[in-house]
Amino acid sequence: MATTVKSRLEAMAKKLRKYSQSHVLQFIDTLDSGGKIALLEELEGLDFELLNELIGRYVLESPEIELPKEILPAPVYPRVPSDELQGKYQKARDHGERMIAEHKVACFTVAGGMGTRLGFEGPKGDYPATPVRNKSLFRVFAESIIASEHRYNCEIPWYIMTSPANHADTVQSFKDHDYFGLNPANVMHFPQGMMPCFGKDGKILMEDKGHLAMSPDGHGGSLRALYKSGALQDMAQRGIEYISYFQVDNPLVYIVDPLFIGLHAMDTAEMSSKAVIKVDPLEKVGNFTVVDGKITVIEYSDLPEEVARKRSADGKLLIESGSIAIHLISRSFVERINQRGFSLPWHRAEKRVPYIDLEGERVVPDGPNAVKLETFVFDAVPLAERSIILAIDRDDQFAPIKNATGVDSVESSHRLQMNRHVKWLEAAGIDIPRKEDGSLNVKVEISPLFALEPEDLVRKKSQLRKLKPEDIVSLG
Ligand code: UD1
Repeated sequence: MATTVKSRLEAMAKKLRKYSQSHVLQFIDTLDSGGKIALLEELEGLDFELLNELIGRYVLESPEIELPKEILPAPVYPRVPSDELQGKYQKARDHGERMIAEHKVACFTVAGGMGTRLGFEGPKGDYPATPVRNKSLFRVFAESIIASEHRYNCEIPWYIMTSPANHADTVQSFKDHDYFGLNPANVMHFPQGMMPCFGKDGKILMEDKGHLAMSPDGHGGSLRALYKSGALQDMAQRGIEYISYFQVDNPLVYIVDPLFIGLHAMDTAEMSSKAVIKVDPLEKVGNFTVVDGKITVIEYSDLPEEVARKRSADGKLLIESGSIAIHLISRSFVERINQRGFSLPWHRAEKRVPYIDLEGERVVPDGPNAVKLETFVFDAVPLAERSIILAIDRDDQFAPIKNATGVDSVESSHRLQMNRHVKWLEAAGIDIPRKEDGSLNVKVEISPLFALEPEDLVRKKSQLRKLKPEDIVSLG
């Protein structure tokens, strides 16, 4: 055993010299045998050839994004179908409902992010998200899945990608809450891949004497993690064909949407997306475009302002569709790209990362001292043979919680959630008490278990009562 560790260490030291990263073993002699093995395993898990290339391209340099010569707007299925599309939408909805009822749909949440902007201790999915009952994000998603299971009399497995930093806490949270009412056999957690953090000189940073400073490799890593974790194989065994992908931050996500599933399936698409009409040319969302004949998402930071501001003859933005990070992905697509091998472009971000210096002293920097590299899931869209985009009403399906205050905060999300609930109640014929300035004079929350779509409220009208000023109502 000891000799094996010794020879592994020697081989690693040689490799590290080759790639000018020897400093990571500087404190190896101060570690006990368990610590030595742990560090060795971290290092053996890295592909130094790849890292070396990435350091040269993205860490030591800050490469300019190469923009395509021609950026065209992407075709989008409109939110309200035109006369000629009405028949197709109806068929697609029916087809989607069949796919769900035949157990061909699974859900997939990416929940590996660090959630640093929110400043919340613990997995972000545990964040209290709803305006009246303070239900957590995980609970809201679970209720939405359970509601769809009841509606279609089927099972809908849920896969959750965590990171090594929040995996145990996430699993524990599901156990503590009895899987939020789901069957534990249909819930699978798996951690995503990690990348070392680099100093701006290209050296791997050390978190302490026995560990590298690592961070999640971006939600683009989910496509490989699905494959490596065995989740994809589990899906195949269950007969799953379509994966409903969504982020952990959006309590209004319509997870199992028959129209979206049906359009994707009928058009034999491989990776599809939901879109909203941007409220501002420079809104901080990905932009749906066509580049070289392929639907391509260009992040807001990479789209030149003059292109973002271009308008067509009717005054609408030329590139008007924004990404809300909701996708439908065919299982066969994820399988194909993994079997053939694929790589997504790396994106560089300068971040503040505490580390230990060469003297072993812990340094907590004031500003960004490190480079993190991530891949983005939407960069896989152009790898798909076919891809569709469905425009949705942002008021109905998008209320992200990303920041502690201001834009995309819990406060703005509460407001958006209540606005949606009120809009649905009004559509069902319920009068809403308002203050003189027009603002709401009630607090309402509607669980997905009570209504997944506005039509559900119309059907349940007999169960709805009149609202009085200052009422606090929770349905479901
Ligand atoms: C993202 C999209 C943006 C989109 C917006 C919609 C990017 C770069 N941009 O922005 O185009 O318009 O959402 O809300 O993604 N995650 C992981 N592992 C990681 C990194 C992230 O699981 O390594 C998960 C997070 O837990 C979260 C989601 O991915 O659920 C989004 O990550 P975040 O970095 O917060 O992206 P946004 O800046 O919100």
